[in-house]
Amino acid sequence: MTKTSLSSRGARAANTPLRIDYGAYSEAIGNPYHPTDNPTGALTLNVAENRLSWFDLKAKIEAITSENEVPTWVPGYTSSRGAPEFREAVASFLSEHLTGCPIDPEHLGVSAGATSVIEMTSFILADAGDVAVIPAPSYPVYRQDIGNLSGVERYDLVTHHELWEIAAGPALTLAHLEQARAEIEAAGKRFRMLILTTPDNPTGGIYREERLSEMAEWCIEREVHLVVNEIYGLSLIDTEHPVIGSDYSEELPFSSFAKLMAKKQSDFLHLWYAVSKDLGISGFRVGLVYSQNAALLEAYENLNLTHSVSNHTQWVLERLLTDAEFMTLYLERNQKCLTESYAVVVSYLKRLGIPYVPSRGSLFVWVDLSEFMSRDSKDAELELWQELFRATGVLLTPGIGFGHTKRGLFRVVYPCVSIEELKVAMGRIENFVWRRRDG
Ligand SMILES: Cc1ncc(COP(=O)(O)O)c(C=O)c1O
Repeated sequence: MTKTSLSSRGARAANTPLRIDYGAYSEAIGNPYHPTDNPTGALTLNVAENRLSWFDLKAKIEAITSENEVPTWVPGYTSSRGAPEFREAVASFLSEHLTGCPIDPEHLGVSAGATSVIEMTSFILADAGDVAVIPAPSYPVYRQDIGNLSGVERYDLVTHHELWEIAAGPALTLAHLEQARAEIEAAGKRFRMLILTTPDNPTGGIYREERLSEMAEWCIEREVHLVVNEIYGLSLIDTEHPVIGSDYSEELPFSSFAKLMAKKQSDFLHLWYAVSKDLGISGFRVGLVYSQNAALLEAYENLNLTHSVSNHTQWVLERLLTDAEFMTLYLERNQKCLTESYAVVVSYLKRLGIPYVPSRGSLFVWVDLSEFMSRDSKDAELELWQELFRATGVLLTPGIGFGHTKRGLFRVVYPCVSIEELKVAMGRIENFVWRRRDG
């Protein structure tokens, strides 16, 4: 089929790769590392997946499907914004583990992964040409999720230049929001959404409750929708781990935005969540929006059929999430594994003197390799990324696409390989660094 046989939207999509690193990724997964069969093979540290805890979940999920009868609600149609049985289960799971406050299942909308939820929510809250402000650096695919269907524009709000400026957490202030608003309005556009991710992709920072509260008040007053994405809300790092403890000057527990939503009861505050990262099951495609906005939920019910989740998947997860004892143990063990792997990356970076942002959660370390760029430009960043991949077989994600202005920043995903593989990857990066510094 030629591209001219498509709509203009289709032709644009045919020419726009989803991610900048897909080409290199396809190459890398064709030559995977194996300690004995392929010791020089590639190690991909670029896809935001947690593969450390699947072993635990696999046995549990197999038991659910083999030991239980499929209930009668599964084969038929149900509410397009999520089967009531599933929404009940998810609400109690969230209130027990993530939010620390009651979640009303009637205020949830469930779609096929966070991607679908982001698309649906933007479609419902903003018009084409409206602007969503996102503090930089941030998840590259927000651009497509808010833009492809809804035509909402992404505004990357740069709040800092060097990594040390966000060592203690996100730098976003009300002054930054005012500055963005002035610029957007001067361009004749509407600042319609503010999207915050906590813990953050890629920096691993978390927002303090007081800061979120200020942001929420600012947004409510100006009728800007504030959406907080807590997709990494249970992927927290133990900041008291001996290898990393000195990076943190204070304890800062994660506090869910749901608590502020309960206090403020506003149509302009919303929360996103998905099981993709915290449970390491991105392939199940389950995400959700939580909102007090009745009109949003009505619209969601009417529009979400194209994005809804298979009832069979909802049933399996309903069984899983309601096993409170299993989920508590799973989450504890998962956070321990995440911390161990995170500490491996940090111990190498400390030894090498490579700047990074101390993370409090998420699956990432955001590192500064700008000293190895031949010049300060996008091309030089991509050249360095390719050079690192060719020399070491380790694939990272380059900073281009995250919306930040500083070049030479890279994202390392640490739980998408085993801890043994991670040590191999970091050892190769270490050799690369010494070779480049010596040369
Ligand atoms: C911040 C953020 N939101 C959404 C997504 C997409 O998640 P899902 O696989 O549930 O669509 C990702 C995936 O990396 C992410 O990092």
